[in-house]
Amino acid sequence: MERVIKVGLLGLGTVGSGVLRILEINNKEVTRRAGAGIEIKKILVRDPGKKRSVQVDPKLLTTDPWEIIRDPEIEVIIELIGGTKEAHLYVEEALKNEKYVITANKDLMALAGAELLLLAGQKGRNIYYEASVGGGIPLIRPLKHSLGANKITRLMGIINGTTNYILTRMSLDKADFAAALKEAQEKGFAEQDPSSDLDGKDAAYKLCILAGLAFNSRVRYENVYVEGIRGINLRDIFYAGELGFTLKLLAIGEEINGGIALRVHPTLIPSTHPLAGVLDENNALYLVGNAVGEVMFYGPGAGSMPTGSSVVADLIDVIRNINHQVENGIMETDFLEKRIIPIEMLSSAFYLRLEAVDQPGVFAGLANAFADEAVSLDRIIQKRSVQGKAEIVLITHVVEERSFNRALEKIKAFPAIERINSLFRVVES
Ligand SMILES: NC(=O)c1ccc[n+]([C@@H]2O[C@H](COP(=O)([O-])OP(=O)(O)OC[C@H]3O[C@@H](n4cnc5c(N)ncnc54)[C@H](OP(=O)(O)O)[C@@H]3O)[C@@H](O)[C@H]2O)c1
Repeated sequence: MERVIKVGLLGLGTVGSGVLRILEINNKEVTRRAGAGIEIKKILVRDPGKKRSVQVDPKLLTTDPWEIIRDPEIEVIIELIGGTKEAHLYVEEALKNEKYVITANKDLMALAGAELLLLAGQKGRNIYYEASVGGGIPLIRPLKHSLGANKITRLMGIINGTTNYILTRMSLDKADFAAALKEAQEKGFAEQDPSSDLDGKDAAYKLCILAGLAFNSRVRYENVYVEGIRGINLRDIFYAGELGFTLKLLAIGEEINGGIALRVHPTLIPSTHPLAGVLDENNALYLVGNAVGEVMFYGPGAGSMPTGSSVVADLIDVIRNINHQVENGIMETDFLEKRIIPIEMLSSAFYLRLEAVDQPGVFAGLANAFADEAVSLDRIIQKRSVQGKAEIVLITHVVEERSFNRALEKIKAFPAIERINSLFRVVES
């Protein structure tokens, strides 16, 4: 192979190590598919003395980003340092220096992707970000290319492995939230500070990226309604199971009458739904296209080798484009600015668990308050009665959020209602 493409790697942590390992073990396949040799010329790290999980020539390591980004021989920059401050600065400078950029950084792409893609276009270059959502699962390329003939009306994803691991442990092992989180941290599926995962932020960033492509519209983090999984009670998982539902943290994007609705929240889905069977740290994206019908992508949403697999696939694409002198590869089409539909305007069914004084007339009072706001009940069950307190679980039919919220306010005002314990949206299909 005559041509060798020189690459600069920013970061040699979990994903960077996976990239190096794949380039070593699959070198023949990768270079044959790319149509050129690949040389990692320099690697940016914070601490060159650190023990690494891959063998690397110490001469390749540097702590000076500009030595890589401004090297005229380097044609491709792979950004794997994470965060948004330095990563933004380095990617911007790389594009200004007319490098092709590959990144696995969902925070960066969700917050600054639009601006960086514009700069890339101006410089005749492109940014590749397959690894930013779903780790090793191909999602970005299918949305951009393979499903390009479709109008996508809805997508629902389990796109955060940490929360899916915790909910799986709670559901299968009857572990409580704190124990499931501790196990996730011990096994490396949750960070020491898991806030971004538990609070739904990570999933919301990823939803911005997916929804932008699926609905061909610019989507910002502030456009997403976000609720996390903190404090989820084992009892709800158990009751949901009895009623034929599974609790998952879902990222949901819908296009409704030309507007788009985006939300991340714990959701009850029928236990027969394909997403209900997505267990442990795995991720999945389910979507509906008007030509293809229902499609689901499933697999490992993180990890050194799976995420490295997506990064190296991007590298193959970049090199093919360089070889064919396609300057900027295939850019996104022009994005629209579609209207954002606020959550209050959406309709859902709801699951509610509450505690009431165990006395006659409570069911009737609840039913009347709901009926006043045109909320009809699908199921209402008294689960148990302890020391004069009844635990009641109910599921409504599909209703506008606004109506449900009004009914909820009335219910809270009933003297017999002692506490609303939990509230989840239910998606039936
Ligand atoms: N881990 C996953 O499974 C996964 C999955 C999908 C996407 N991602 C994304 O991939 C990116 C990388 O994640 P990771 O898990 O590989 O991170 P990581 O293990 O923390 O590795 C980060 C690497 O970047 C280097 N680094 C960080 N900040 C730096 C700075 N300011 N200057 C120089 N070097 C710096 C670190 O150097 P030292 O080694 O010297 O400390 C380390 O080698 C993130 O955007 C993440 O969201 C990760």
